[in-house]
Amino acid sequence: MYRLNDWDISADGAGEEDALQNGSRLLTGNGYLGRRGVVDEAGSGSMPATILSGLYDQRGNLWREPVNSPDPLFLSLSAAGCSLAAGGANTASHEQSLNFRYGVYARTTRWHLPGLSGGTMSIHAERYAHMEDVHLLCARYTLCADVPCRLSVKRGINCALRDLNGPHLGNFRFSQTAENQALAVSCATLENNIPLAVVSAFSPAPPAAECQQHETLENEAGIFCQYDFELDGKNSVSFTIYGAVYTALDTEAPLQAAEERAIAAQREGWEPLLRRHRGCWDAIWRTGDVLIEGDDYAQRCLRYSLYQLWIAAPRHRGKERALSVPARGLSGQTYKGAIFWDTEMFISPYFLAVRPELAQRFIQYRIQTLPGAKRKAAEYGYRGAFFAWESQETGDDACSDFNVTDVFTGRPVRTYFRDKQIHISADIVYAIKKYVDYTGDRAILAEGAMELILEAARFYLSYLYYSPERRRYEALDVTGPDEYHERVNNNAFTNKMILFVFETARAYINLLKRDNTSFIEELIKRIGFNDDFAFMETVMPLFAVPRPGANGLIEQFDGYFRLEGCSLETVRSRLKDPREYWGTGNGVAGTTQIIKQADVVSMLALFGDDYSTAVKKANLDYYGPRTEHGSSLSSCMHALLACETGGSDWAYPFFIKTAEIDITGKSKQFAGLVYIGGTHPAANGGAWMAAVQGFCGFSLREGRITVRPRLPKQWKKARFSVIHRGVEHEITVTKDDYVICKK
Ligand code: IFM
Repeated sequence: MYRLNDWDISADGAGEEDALQNGSRLLTGNGYLGRRGVVDEAGSGSMPATILSGLYDQRGNLWREPVNSPDPLFLSLSAAGCSLAAGGANTASHEQSLNFRYGVYARTTRWHLPGLSGGTMSIHAERYAHMEDVHLLCARYTLCADVPCRLSVKRGINCALRDLNGPHLGNFRFSQTAENQALAVSCATLENNIPLAVVSAFSPAPPAAECQQHETLENEAGIFCQYDFELDGKNSVSFTIYGAVYTALDTEAPLQAAEERAIAAQREGWEPLLRRHRGCWDAIWRTGDVLIEGDDYAQRCLRYSLYQLWIAAPRHRGKERALSVPARGLSGQTYKGAIFWDTEMFISPYFLAVRPELAQRFIQYRIQTLPGAKRKAAEYGYRGAFFAWESQETGDDACSDFNVTDVFTGRPVRTYFRDKQIHISADIVYAIKKYVDYTGDRAILAEGAMELILEAARFYLSYLYYSPERRRYEALDVTGPDEYHERVNNNAFTNKMILFVFETARAYINLLKRDNTSFIEELIKRIGFNDDFAFMETVMPLFAVPRPGANGLIEQFDGYFRLEGCSLETVRSRLKDPREYWGTGNGVAGTTQIIKQADVVSMLALFGDDYSTAVKKANLDYYGPRTEHGSSLSSCMHALLACETGGSDWAYPFFIKTAEIDITGKSKQFAGLVYIGGTHPAANGGAWMAAVQGFCGFSLREGRITVRPRLPKQWKKARFSVIHRGVEHEITVTKDDYVICKK
């Protein structure tokens, strides 16, 4: 059970299923690390994890995934001869909560103390990932018993980590600085030998008179200290732990940096550190918040979504070695900690509006991974840049050829996400164009973005096929956003995106030539794009993007309308196992018109100006009942398009479904037998898009902010901020009016 209040969410379950849900629901993080919302004593079944951004490792030929750091906040308690763990035998009550205004997780647990005539022991703990000092994890504990008893606290750095495809760390070395009550672990990743260090500093040193401190224990599980406190049944014991994590990607001397950081935090103390942390969040909310009047539930869900975006977004790296946002944020190792099109299409729009330099970083990350995209294109026999469907630090594709496991045979099933979702390169070009239009920052084109666009165009030029019979170019054998229909021809979304790449390449070449920058001539010469440019000009008029028929409908791909037209319920009723995957060759959806996620609807939402309201409405009505929304990326696109067609109230449940996804935990946890749980940053971004672009009608037209209010009936007013060309604006939207103020 969970409860959602204005700025906090609490949950009281202590079973393993609760722990899995709460791990994501109560996640804390700061873009450098993500700490799952489980108790510090959690066993591996609860999936405890501290996931690091941008550090990956591969074991053998298992899936390459982000590294889970040794845990500096490990704690295990016992009293009156029994071990005290949340959900364990003597648990009397247990509650965890997350304050999502300030990213502070708290837990309160009480245990019965057997043999001590009704006595109980309780712990209250708080922790957070420091938003400014992103290497820091801070935790404060208060323990008390209502009867005299001995309390043993074992704390330390736990290296016995639970990974989906690990282990990823080795060469462990332990050390300690007694004077600072600090324990340290240094180790390295196994694949690339990247050093990582974790320090855990305890404060204050307990007075010897009240506490017996045992010898430090080192074993394969980590390094630990044990303290025995004699409690008198009245007074409590309080202490704080400051954990610091550094890797060789951050500094040349991670161990030294972690020691210095943890000890500096110990000196600074809990309150001043927390003040700085909260100050950082206050600054974020000043621009990043969206206020909704008249609808408390929507308000809470939307703020929670924005919180999830901020803890997933890496802010700590400069543009030289930029990072991006993984599809499951830093909530675990699902989807290999990889970056998908989710960032460009769903996450970037929010940051572009409120922190444009982060949207710029995400583009720089793609520019830096361009060599990987070129390798991938070459691997499949194409030219140019075919970006990774699942991108990690080099841009080589982490996506496997077998992404789901068959429920019945336990065998891996061939999927074509990696080879056929060719829209990925165009999605990146789309985000670049949006960024340049919005910020006016053309410098990024010379910093690699233009080369990326041309290489993407070149990839599509080499992918397209000329049909002599139809006298046109076509994109055959592709997979659009709807992953249930793989390897189709002329997917409307994909073709539209490809054409967009050509148009953008042409427009920017002309623009830069007009600007008289020698750079564009040099670039075209350096990468040999002259012939491609001429070919692109030939292709463009002969490249077909599926168009609306007489009834306004756009066919999702060649032959889609000939597939079985049955209801979602019919298809669902054909499942023999609820965890069955609906797509691929044998999936229940493959031969039907039931689609996984918004496809044509996404195209219409993204290119709204190119289609009439009647066409948008016809397609929304048609594809709506045929969409399973099996992806968290789907509902927000339906919400956006519905707003465009005057259907805000119809859009509302889609908005809510998107905004509450990480609160309710109601999302797919398995694809076949593969665990896919975790948080959903794309939906979090989609919630902002639906609220601000959809209901408030915020967009940019000819370089100017425009607002077209279409609030749902529950909303009286909405207020949000955007930073446009360096100027911050506060925009207030009411039912049929709006005000834009410079802040
Ligand atoms: O990028 C999405 C894809 O569209 C659907 N499956 C999950 C991916 C990651 O969120």
